[in-house]
Amino acid sequence: MDIWKIRGGSRLEGACFVQGSKNASLPIIAASLISPAETELMNVPRLRDVDSALRILRHLGCSAQQQGNDVYINSTGISENKIPHSLMLEMRSSVIFMGALLARCGEARLSLPGGCQLGKRPIDIHISAFRQMGAEIEEDGSNIRCSAARLRGCELRLPFPSVGATENIMLAACAAEGETVIKGAAREPEISALAEYLRRMGCDIEGEGSDTIVIGGFTPKGQLSYRVISDRIVAATLACAAACTGGDVELRAVEPEHFSTVLYFLKQAGCDIISDKYTVRLRSDGKLRAVGDVCTQPYPGFPTDAQPVLMAALLKAHGRTHITENIFENRYRQVEQLCRLGADISVNGRVADINGVDMLYGSSLEATDLRGGAAMIVAGLSAEGETLIHDEGHIKRGYEDLDQVLCSLGADVKLEKMKGTANGFQYTYEKTQN
Ligand code: EPZ
Repeated sequence: MDIWKIRGGSRLEGACFVQGSKNASLPIIAASLISPAETELMNVPRLRDVDSALRILRHLGCSAQQQGNDVYINSTGISENKIPHSLMLEMRSSVIFMGALLARCGEARLSLPGGCQLGKRPIDIHISAFRQMGAEIEEDGSNIRCSAARLRGCELRLPFPSVGATENIMLAACAAEGETVIKGAAREPEISALAEYLRRMGCDIEGEGSDTIVIGGFTPKGQLSYRVISDRIVAATLACAAACTGGDVELRAVEPEHFSTVLYFLKQAGCDIISDKYTVRLRSDGKLRAVGDVCTQPYPGFPTDAQPVLMAALLKAHGRTHITENIFENRYRQVEQLCRLGADISVNGRVADINGVDMLYGSSLEATDLRGGAAMIVAGLSAEGETLIHDEGHIKRGYEDLDQVLCSLGADVKLEKMKGTANGFQYTYEKTQN
């Protein structure tokens, strides 16, 4: 159990580099399986989910190590097509190994994936696409066996631009006979990153970033090196933290276009924002205004992953903000915790109504999920007094050294590890970092 101790009230000031993208790294790590190759990935964040993906690769017979932010994978000696339940449960992205294993071995055996509890997270779109490509799928409880002597390219029309399904299909399509056309594809920057990686692996792919992606032939190239894009949600989180603490922060090594909708709302809230190609500088006097209506949408709309942190930034904004969550049915798990700080939020179905309050007061909270936990950190930074966030490891799934990044910007944040839990009351703490 990690304990975040945040003493609010410090203004964030200074410059920091933003980590590489978790959600781009994970499908790319899975993609390294599709043909025997040596891969070097740079700018990969050191995170629990990345570690889980590398353990899956090792279980399948690859060699896979991370040194700092570099990952080295050798996928020549794959010996297994089954991923054990314990590894599948560690994260949602484990499902992307289905497309990669189908492409490489013609068979994948796995179980339903884990990940943040954001409501129902079915994989029907993935399964239906594989069936249309000629795969046979047997489901037995939570176990899935997917096999195809030969996958065939075809035109697929997705009922919703699912990020994971688009990625899974892109991977499987590399081994398909003929052309695969994905209509209604997801357009997220992580999809474009995966397409670029596949292209460098030797895949004939075009259309990424639009709603139609076409995957043609594949001529494996054997060896490649690739730099992962920066994490737009981490950038959004830091921008929100700077905004509500009255900060002046320069975010470096970012792609401003990738989180422009978040910057748009922070600007509406009163922040002064200047971007150039790879940096964003945000200045705020800390007196934010409510921003009216925010609706989460597939990219290029406002990202669901940034909804909790934007909500946290606007808790003290003057006026009312209405958020409509259109992607996940249960992505307001942070609300109850934020209200413990004195926030005034009411939720009705998919809509959250935030009525700005004058003050937030430190309290003891529990991280509910990855972005919800990050939202509690953002809120704690602008609360008076100390906020304690008890976290079973959610935040570490997506943020690399967030405590150190925030401290380097002047925040008073300590991350400690709880050692003993004797009778639930006697705790010993140990500093984990810094
Ligand atoms: C990816 O999840 C991200 N995860 C999520 O980030 C992100 O919130 C999400 O895309 C939306 O942007 C990774 O990239 C590892 P989806 P994914 O398939 O692929 C429904 C974070 O905090 N759906 O686009 O699982 C689904 O239930 C995480 O970093 C089906 O109904 O998202 C959801 O309501 C959390 N059937 C919606 O589509 C399917 O077969 C979006 O899911 C697939 C999805």
